[in-house]
Amino acid sequence: MSIFSNKTFAKLGVVAVACLTLAGFALSERLEVSPVEGSVVNEAEIAASADPAKAKAAFNEAVKVFFSARCANCHPAGDIPTQGDEMTPHAQGVTRGKDGKGVYGMTCTTCHQDSNLEGEHMPPGVPNWHMPPANQKMVFQGLTARQLCIQLKDPKRNGGRKTPKEAIHHLEGDPLVTWAWTPGNGRSVPPMSYEDFMKAMNTWVENGAACPE
Ligand code: HEC
Ligand code: HEC
Repeated sequence: MSIFSNKTFAKLGVVAVACLTLAGFALSERLEVSPVEGSVVNEAEIAASADPAKAKAAFNEAVKVFFSARCANCHPAGDIPTQGDEMTPHAQGVTRGKDGKGVYGMTCTTCHQDSNLEGEHMPPGVPNWHMPPANQKMVFQGLTARQLCIQLKDPKRNGGRKTPKEAIHHLEGDPLVTWAWTPGNGRSVPPMSYEDFMKAMNTWVENGAACPE
């Protein structure tokens, strides 16, 4: 004899399906931007057919996304994230902290939840909202396209990523990145679609990742 009657089981089944459906909706809303795979071309092929002019042109296009407020707000020059299209210093005295997750009593996820909160000036969110750590700040703000390009390829400054292909791995659907295209609350989005951005970054990688002058 089972603890649950068949009827109870049937009811539980209905509830489970309802929950899954709800979870599915919540998820599909958050993942409006589907991940796009980075380049799969291997290093030897890249070396054989690199076109520096094409790489530079692609980078000059894509860099507009890096410098847009949605990305650059988490990649400031100092230790205070910035906010809004004006990129003003974050309110409430928020700072980076050692691991990029804020300081004791003022961690990012105290306020930033797993999804954007509805309402004017409410915190946006994805799981594990944080900025780069203190020993690897990955600054975008204040750089030229050339400086950013060189930094992206520098393992000492890009989180130890050895090749341009590895360097752009984080762009293949990391929620912190794709969030920029679903920022919530009427915030503006980067100046090109996520798909076009990935296309440009892949073109940059596949043509030898040359940096613009
Ligand atoms: C005390 C609550 C609080 C804490 C702690 C906090 N934030 Fe925020 N954050 C907010 C709110 C609220 C907003 C939205 C402000 C608005 O839209 O006017 C915001 C906005 C932002 C934005 C701007 C989004 C955009 O593009 O406009 C970034 C970036 C950000 N926070 C990063 C962080 C990081 C990184 C941490 C941890 C180091 C952090 N925040 C800690 C409340 C907080
Ligand atoms: C909520 C904060 C946040 C936002 C918004 C954000 N990033 Fe980041 N970014 C991070 C963190 C944290 C890391 C370090 C993670 C790691 O090393 O894996 C990082 C690392 C990176 C890296 C790898 C570092 C390097 O130099 O190779 C790139 C590239 C990058 N981000 C690009 C972007 C782009 C493009 C956008 C906007 C479309 C963006 N980020 C938006 C937090 C953010």
